[in-house]
Amino acid sequence: MSLIDKLDHKRLPAHIAIIMDGNGRWAKTRGLDRSEGHKKGVEAIRRVVEAASTASIQYLTLYAFSTENWRRPSDEVNGLMDLMVYALTRETADLKKNGVRIIAIGNIERLPDYVRETLQECIQETAGGKRLTLVIALSYSSKWELTEAVKKICNDVKSGTLQEEEISEVTIDNYLSTHALPDPDLLIRTGGEQRISNFLLWQCAYTEFYFTDTFWPDFNDEELYKAILEFQKRERRYGKISEQIEYEQ
Ligand code: IPE
Ligand code: IPE
Ligand code: MG
Repeated sequence: MSLIDKLDHKRLPAHIAIIMDGNGRWAKTRGLDRSEGHKKGVEAIRRVVEAASTASIQYLTLYAFSTENWRRPSDEVNGLMDLMVYALTRETADLKKNGVRIIAIGNIERLPDYVRETLQECIQETAGGKRLTLVIALSYSSKWELTEAVKKICNDVKSGTLQEEEISEVTIDNYLSTHALPDPDLLIRTGGEQRISNFLLWQCAYTEFYFTDTFWPDFNDEELYKAILEFQKRERRYGKISEQIEYEQ
């Protein structure tokens, strides 16, 4: 029996975000090159996108490459860029067929031309997808995103298109690259580390966190459903007390 049958379909997270970590260590424990771990990681992405879609999750955000990852050895960075292009090229037709819409967040300008162009083609091709929105965080960091938002807000105040007194939390939401997305309900990090690594700092203000020691290449549909089941046991109080939450339900 699959864990999917145990899920409460009335209490599904609308948006799941995943820090896909542990590719390098997965490879190392097998005496393989780190690049082999990244390749296996692509297979895991395929499985998890399908599993999320089967479970009627609406938004899935995958942290694929952080601003800080540019600091890795150039061979690894180049290998990851090539892998990204290979995976996007190979998967676009299937994603489109399955109603998956791809969008990207992050400093896309910093990507090499061939990666940016492939990504943009994939975004255009899949734009009509209605089943699942797959958000790829690429060359992304939350501090970068927040800095960009502050700069844009300052510019708009200076030019008069935005009034300083009007600035609210919603204004800030609207200036982030995630403006069209709901905040994540559930954040999963694989690979054993328990940190946020500059990911969606603003958006995760009330997100439920789930950590697993499983390395990303071993993550699969059952592991995803296990995380969702754990999420469904949590009480989201948003500062209130339990009795208020029970009353509201
Ligand atoms: C995550 O796996 C993939 C990326 C950050 C691109 P890592 O490459 O960080 O794997 P570990 O953490 O070294 O095992
Ligand atoms: C976080 O993984 C970024 C991605 C999964 C893309 P890292 O492996 O780069 O994180 P840190 O630097 O160890 O926290
Ligand atoms: Mg890592």
